Amino acid sequence: MNNKEIRHQIGIKNCTKCSLSENRNNIVVGEGKTNADILLIGEAPGKREDEKGRPFVGRAGETLTELLNHIGLKREDIYITNIVKCKPPSNRNPKPEEMEACEQYLKQQIEIINPSIIISVGKVATQRLLSRKVTLKNHHGTITETTEEYGKNKLFITYHPAACLYNKNLEETLKEDFEKLNYYIEILNNQ
Ligand code: URA
Repeated sequence: MNNKEIRHQIGIKNCTKCSLSENRNNIVVGEGKTNADILLIGEAPGKREDEKGRPFVGRAGETLTELLNHIGLKREDIYITNIVKCKPPSNRNPKPEEMEACEQYLKQQIEIINPSIIISVGKVATQRLLSRKVTLKNHHGTITETTEEYGKNKLFITYHPAACLYNKNLEETLKEDFEKLNYYIEILNNQ
């Protein structure tokens, strides 16, 4: 299945399940290798993503690309999506009812892609995939499991790449997290 077929299969075209549909320019479904071992899940599209209809194409996306390159991966090697597929106004976090409305699309994407590991970047994605509150300070760089409803997939937790745009100290932390991720991926590949 290619990216276009995923979009079709999950039935997201012209979605109006929540009010984010009222101000969007594009639904940002996701993109990448559709049978990827690695599925990366962010929070929500920003302004650039909404304009382009593609995930992580703004400044946070540049940082993400660098982090992937740091461990020898390219964007095209993985599949990239978000918890919600339409841009929230003024860069606010998605509301619970918006995440709820979008949930069926993400669940279908996880089923179709069937990754060996999911990476959650940032608190919103992490808490959603774990259905509980966690702090990134205590959990970043660790591996756990998503809840049953997200398929009990292996989940690697890290900070959002946008975080180091505001806090330079996190640059090194994110790099180290991605090195740990690379280590886990190697273990998974050898299993
Ligand atoms: N931040 C996200 O969480 N997702 C994007 O696609 C872009 C920025």
